[in-house]
Amino acid sequence: MSEKRCAATRKGYNWKGSEAILPSILHEQLFLEAMEVTTERTLLMVKPDGVRRSLLGLIIARIEQKGLVISNMRMFRMDDAFARTFYAEHDGRDYFPALLSFMTSGPVVALQVESPNAIVLVRTAIGATRPEDRLPGTIRADFSTQLTENVVHASASPTDAERELALVFGDSHTTLGAVHE
Ligand code: CDP
Ligand code: MG
Repeated sequence: MSEKRCAATRKGYNWKGSEAILPSILHEQLFLEAMEVTTERTLLMVKPDGVRRSLLGLIIARIEQKGLVISNMRMFRMDDAFARTFYAEHDGRDYFPALLSFMTSGPVVALQVESPNAIVLVRTAIGATRPEDRLPGTIRADFSTQLTENVVHASASPTDAERELALVFGDSHTTLGAVHE
């Protein structure tokens, strides 16, 4: 028996001539594994322009209407040190001083959002960074034409999400459980 055929047999394949048949019980197992989606937490933040323009309710409504769960919330004003840490990866870019000045110009509202695939879903909901790339229906497209003053921030990756949630909520970011039980 060929090495490939041996390996397939070990995985549970049956053979009909040279055709590999996967038993239905394994089909079901693979299907369930493929369907398994883990709940993620991400940070969505309404930036100072969004709070100033009273867009909080509209933004929160979009998140809730979509079925994403808000499991923590905090309004606060960033000081310069916090903004520098939060946006550390942008240190040295020409827009960094303007970004810091904008982000410290008024309160922000931070939301911890939970759902399967929350990170990509919330990023998709906020829309692209560049105004010309934003699709209609996204928060940034619908509420802003600006590059810097773009109403919302959302974590871009699982690592960013954990870092940003810890910065904003400290220890409490892991302690609030499911809110709709
Ligand atoms: O926020 P997002 O992840 O979509 O974009 P980013 O490239 O990580 O940039 C962070 C923030 O910096 C943006 O949301 C803008 O507010 C600002 N920015 C800017 O003012 N000018 C740029 N050329 C790029 C970003
Ligand atoms: Mg980013």
